Amino acid sequence: MVWWFSVPKVAFGEDALTELDQLKGQRAIIVTDRVVADLGYPAKVESMLKNNGWEVTVWAEAESDPRVSVVKSAADAMTKSSADLIVAIGGGSVMDTAKAAWVLYVNPGFKLEELTPFDTLNLRSKARLVCIPTTAGTGSDATKAIVVREDDTGRKFATINPELTPDLAILEPTFVKDLPKTMTAYTGMDALTHAVESYASVWKNDFSDACSMKAVTMVFEWLPKSMSEPHNLLAREKMLVAANLAGMSFGNSQVSLAHSLGHSLGSVLRVQHGLAVGISLPYTIEYNSAENEATARLYQELGRLVGVLEPDPFKAARAFAAKVRELQKMTGFPRSLKEAGVKRTDFDKGLDKLVEYAMMDSSITMNPRDIQSAGIRRLYDAMFEGRPIDF
Ligand SMILES: NC(=O)c1ccc[n+]([C@@H]2O[C@H](COP(=O)([O-])OP(=O)(O)OC[C@H]3O[C@@H](n4cnc5c(N)ncnc54)[C@H](O)[C@@H]3O)[C@@H](O)[C@H]2O)c1
Ligand SMILES: [Fe+2]
Repeated sequence: MVWWFSVPKVAFGEDALTELDQLKGQRAIIVTDRVVADLGYPAKVESMLKNNGWEVTVWAEAESDPRVSVVKSAADAMTKSSADLIVAIGGGSVMDTAKAAWVLYVNPGFKLEELTPFDTLNLRSKARLVCIPTTAGTGSDATKAIVVREDDTGRKFATINPELTPDLAILEPTFVKDLPKTMTAYTGMDALTHAVESYASVWKNDFSDACSMKAVTMVFEWLPKSMSEPHNLLAREKMLVAANLAGMSFGNSQVSLAHSLGHSLGSVLRVQHGLAVGISLPYTIEYNSAENEATARLYQELGRLVGVLEPDPFKAARAFAAKVRELQKMTGFPRSLKEAGVKRTDFDKGLDKLVEYAMMDSSITMNPRDIQSAGIRRLYDAMFEGRPIDF
């Protein structure tokens, strides 16, 4: 069987944005959201493109956790502009909106819910995609993944297609320097969750392992600095690189249980993505490593990179989970759903749906340990109270 490792071209460093000058074409559409537009980053890119002779349209209507209907509006704007270049400037929600809208722009009427990795989309027959992330976490700038929300149920669904890997990712630290502290922590924990989950995923491979290992060490080193010195551009750049590397990793090996739990928390209780998967991460490390020495060894390997030197693999895996919680404490990141402000009544009311949607999530199939509805329910219960997993 043949496997591929697909990544975009990545421009990084002080002059990363000048990579825009290399692009050839006529009509660009910038996809962004209002908050990012108000920060002025899209205007900067617009003026650089215009100076190079591009006709530029700006569409700034993206929302967090994009619904299919909003993606459709973005696709309509692409059609109206006849864009041959799509430039996404924003967090994961903006980048996913642009990627999903690209599918509909080239294939009008396509049902995103039915997108599979095997569909031929011919995306580049009409346009290419550049991603400029303004959060350092999702790694959507490196992946072939999209996460979109159904309008009627609010359920988030994740899917992949190889054509969705961006042509170019531009990592520009000044676009991240004003990201508020909470979002810095949430998105940083998303990057860590990608790196850890892909290292233990059933689709892991040597290339994804290398990216995961580097990303884990970088998040532990640079996330606290990004928090304490928000305008430290080196720290911001390192987190953008870590997030992109973690994206390269999971884009080629997939995430697993923490993302299934997290997507469901996002769907049912509208918990922010990085917050949801980051809270889930240590609990899933404890669950996955409890019975399987080979899996425990994987977490032990990651633990070693950040100073966990316990020789017994089972204890080492738990110590790595504790190390993740330590990083969370250091960055003011909640370690339980209760601490994150989820109300007991909302949690109890939503629990059945939380379990149902987590079981439906595609990432769950990549988890190294099998889990059924009853196990998911116990995990959520423990996550609400902040009880480590002992089953
Ligand atoms: N496709 C993938 O590979 C992938 C991977 C992980 C997550 N996701 C998805 O990405 C979404 C989450 O993305 P996110 O965590 O980046 O959050 P987001 O894109 O939803 O942004 C959160 C908020 O931060 C604001 N923001 C963005 N950049 C800012 C900046 N520089 N300064 C100030 N505010 C800024 C946004 O306007 C928004 O209000 C979720 O829907 C998640 O499921 C996708
Ligand atoms: Fe994620």
